[in-house]
Amino acid sequence: MSNRQWTLRGAHTEYTVAVPEHGRWLELVAWGPHGVGEGPSPVAYTGPTPFLTAGDYAPVEYATDAVRPFAGAELVVELPTGDRRVSWDFQEATGDERQLRVLFTDPVTGLRAEHRYRIADGTDVVERWTELHNPGDTTLRLVQAASAAFNMPTPHGARISYQWGQWAQEFQLDHVDLGQGRFTVGSAQGVPGHLFVPWLAVRDRADETGPAWGVALAWTGSWEIAAQRDTGGLTRVTAGRHLADGPLELPPGGKLTLPVAAGAYSDEGLDGLARVWHTYQRELAGDRLGRIRPVLYNSWEATGFAVDAANQLALARTAADIGAEAFVVDDGWFIGRHDDRGGLGDWTVDEAKFPDGFDTFIAEIRAMGLTFGLWVEPECVSPASRLYAEHPDWVYAVDGRPQTLVRNQLLLDLGRPEVAEFVHGTVDGLLRRHDIGYLKWDFNRPRTEPGRHGAAAPVDLDGAHVANLHRIYEQLRHDHPDVIIEACAGGGGRTDLAMAARADVVWPSDNTGPLDRLAIQHGFLHANAPHLLSSWVTDAPGLFDPRPRSLAFRFVLAMAGVLGIGADIRHWDEGQRAEAATWIARYKQIRDVVQRGEVHLIGGPDRARCAVQYTAPDGATVVVLAWHTGKLDGPGLLPSRPLRLPLRGLGRRDVYRTQDGQEYSGSHLTAVGLPAQWTAEHDAELIVLHRR
Ligand code: DGJ
Repeated sequence: MSNRQWTLRGAHTEYTVAVPEHGRWLELVAWGPHGVGEGPSPVAYTGPTPFLTAGDYAPVEYATDAVRPFAGAELVVELPTGDRRVSWDFQEATGDERQLRVLFTDPVTGLRAEHRYRIADGTDVVERWTELHNPGDTTLRLVQAASAAFNMPTPHGARISYQWGQWAQEFQLDHVDLGQGRFTVGSAQGVPGHLFVPWLAVRDRADETGPAWGVALAWTGSWEIAAQRDTGGLTRVTAGRHLADGPLELPPGGKLTLPVAAGAYSDEGLDGLARVWHTYQRELAGDRLGRIRPVLYNSWEATGFAVDAANQLALARTAADIGAEAFVVDDGWFIGRHDDRGGLGDWTVDEAKFPDGFDTFIAEIRAMGLTFGLWVEPECVSPASRLYAEHPDWVYAVDGRPQTLVRNQLLLDLGRPEVAEFVHGTVDGLLRRHDIGYLKWDFNRPRTEPGRHGAAAPVDLDGAHVANLHRIYEQLRHDHPDVIIEACAGGGGRTDLAMAARADVVWPSDNTGPLDRLAIQHGFLHANAPHLLSSWVTDAPGLFDPRPRSLAFRFVLAMAGVLGIGADIRHWDEGQRAEAATWIARYKQIRDVVQRGEVHLIGGPDRARCAVQYTAPDGATVVVLAWHTGKLDGPGLLPSRPLRLPLRGLGRRDVYRTQDGQEYSGSHLTAVGLPAQWTAEHDAELIVLHRR
């Protein structure tokens, strides 16, 4: 048995799997902190299995319907005869402590499945995926093809944390208790979507601040993550593609690599799990983490589609005065784009809006010391555009069926090579022709029609779209290394680990209303690192949450990741501009700590205590952003003892000094907490502590 057992080692965790004597599957032995495997397996099952099979109870890593006929399988394959029940015979394994390949084959069809594992450098995240190869001479239909299953011991019941949402209310963190049965989140939209985040966390109900396991997916199409707890106390989380358009075909000789499903472990609850994901996403960002994500101004909320050189320059002048570093012209700069009914597809500058020429306009922005940024939505097309007139067959469509418009637009079939070439050529051309240092890539509709014009056989539309999207992002990053790319999909509709690896920042929501935004960012930071969190200060009351909060609150909130401004600053008075300039200057001093520091989420948006602590990698600087979540006036607001914000991860005997000269011991900050005294006028704070 020992020669069929392998242990992968992360920074603080280990993950051990084994092939049992019978060789029919790979199963988990232990997953947790270093040394967790030294003792009886917490997930092994040796009890009776009445009315079920052994595989239904076992902590199987990747099951076919032959292995788990009743409890649910990751892979269901159908032969042309309609026969199912592909099953595995173990063949071989290779690997070391950082990566592993375990090969199984099906004795009837010859189907080969390689289970792949990798632990990214310095992280506690196990990447898992499966590679399928059909060496036989018949086409196999994949009715179900998830990437991996993760097994977690939850003897006292499982507490599942997940994030739901809708447009303008993304990343709502919520929890359900799972006794027995199944809890599923996913998307059938051809995009991760606003409804759920491809992220899930599991804890045992008896210990919510202790061990926490997380699963997230690197797939920018339709997906599903399901948690199932059995009567033996095992919670099994399956993650992968959701084949919303029907089975995939694996022709003779065909190969299919399923997307990475990542598993994270922390013994510090959900908060610790967030840090594990942050470390991993920093690893995904690689050397691009070092790029300065500029303090930007974005014109969308100020001018909407009514973009013109005069109003953009007016905004840019003020933006430069208060300290912004980039100016992004959002939607509305190209021909035919006066509202959301036209223009998409015809990516030519509207000269009427830029009468002196676009490059002259950009040069004026650059002369103000600002990087120039531009919005695009290259996968979409307006029915009234020239592009659609010339290539009506380029959009997704089911022949003979009506097409569904969402936001008055259609979706290009990016899986077609000529469409991919057009999309890449459009964006690449803009970046080559103009002095652009920042790109906001938007996507404002899901895919509705599961069909390709003239296709003779079923096509993996989702797979082809996602593959080309990723390829184009990679190509653009390679060819234009200095351009920062922001991913957006009508807010946070396209946030997954694959995008975290390819975009520099993500726009999480169109909702910038202060208290709503606080909840959105709280959820976002549980799954995503602060360097990805794009956030703007907008006018109050704005388009969304009208509950009043100060300008300070809105700045401190937008500083929790990558600061931006979206307000109509042409109308700000001198006092507001001066205050903004002060906040922006302070942000520039602390952004390194915010974007790369160790995060502790203190309390939450629904609690009196609500703050985020960022500790610099060397521990010498601690930044705390804190917000008042309660009422700003009325009874109950008589001055009282200050609220306390307990900090984490500090040296108990170390002394920390604030910018005002107040000193605290690490013990005090940990056991008692940093004081915050809220009033109607003082509803947020940025505190910087330096270790003496
Ligand atoms: C949706 C985005 O989320 C907004 O920020 C803005 O770019 C609009 N699209 C433009 O149409």
